[in-house]
Amino acid sequence: MVEGLYNITRAQAKSIEDNHFKRTTERIQQLQSQLDSAPRTGKLKDKVCIITGVGSLKGIGRATAILFAHEGARHLYLLDFDPTNLPDLKANIESKYPDVKVTTAKADAADEDTISGVCEQALREEGRLDIFFANAGIATKDHLANTTAEAFMKVMRVNALSCFIAVKHASTAMLKTNPSRGKSLSGGSIILTASVAGLRSGAGTVDYSASKAAVNSIAKNSAYQLQKSDIRVNTICPGLIETGMTTDTFDYARQRGSAGKIGQLNPLGRFGVSQEIANAALFLASDDSSYVNGQNIAVDGGLSSSHPVVPGRWA
Ligand SMILES: NC(=O)c1ccc[n+]([C@@H]2O[C@H](COP(=O)([O-])OP(=O)(O)OC[C@H]3O[C@@H](n4cnc5c(N)ncnc54)[C@H](O)[C@@H]3O)[C@@H](O)[C@H]2O)c1
Repeated sequence: MVEGLYNITRAQAKSIEDNHFKRTTERIQQLQSQLDSAPRTGKLKDKVCIITGVGSLKGIGRATAILFAHEGARHLYLLDFDPTNLPDLKANIESKYPDVKVTTAKADAADEDTISGVCEQALREEGRLDIFFANAGIATKDHLANTTAEAFMKVMRVNALSCFIAVKHASTAMLKTNPSRGKSLSGGSIILTASVAGLRSGAGTVDYSASKAAVNSIAKNSAYQLQKSDIRVNTICPGLIETGMTTDTFDYARQRGSAGKIGQLNPLGRFGVSQEIANAALFLASDDSSYVNGQNIAVDGGLSSSHPVVPGRWA
């Protein structure tokens, strides 16, 4: 018998786990291919967007860039520190969505001159800026005792300073109106990628979690300061998502034959994929979320909604 798990045998528990893993695999495949048959509904028609951290093939930034193109964005400015995969992303979007303009650049999201320059470029070329998705980020692995002050400042720079710079310069650009380009009122949506690690402990290192808590605070405070401008600032707090950042964890589990256990700590009992975060970014970018402002929205299968529990035990 397996203690606490409805008094079932180990064989029955294994069968439940195997079925759940099969179901997870099918669900993930369905989510990853949803765009193939989804109609283009034009939720981002005419919108000029900047996205950082788009370079990773399995990453949240790339999935979001493709979804924003699917939804008819006018011009996507796509940035990453690592330029390796930028030509492929540009070609991919341009061949599937010829109506969408794509500009890619190797750029450091935490460099103020670079980010203010891209915001100015959007104003110069398109006359408006509507959406900034500040998504670039790095993770760290070291325990508190081994985290140097330099390592702490590095993750704060890439993860938190980049978001501050994005909000500062994107909001300045979004305040500008341009009736001749269809923008007669100020406004826009700034979306920052934080993390469940920025909501409470247990999901990341001390330095990474602190940087993401800062991102959550930047959104709340800047939403407040940007009063009456119709510029909204929100964060997305992903749970465990399979991307370039988490590849090692997934590869290790697969090598050990324990892939079925990944993500079991949340009520959905599975990990997430980039397309699910992209869907949240689209919601926040579009008018579907026109009254959502200053929020830290967890997209984590329910992970952050619960106190710690042993799966299968109700009390
Ligand atoms: N994957 C997860 O489980 C998870 C969970 C919570 C939060 N996040 C956050 O999601 C965001 C996206 O990460 P991901 O999971 O897609 O990881 P990823 O590593 O696949 O993608 C991150 C991208 O950011 C780029 N980048 C890093 N530093 C940069 C800089 N200074 N300037 C420009 N680009 C830079 C990288 O080159 C990479 O292409 C990050 O902010 C990350 O902290 C991820």
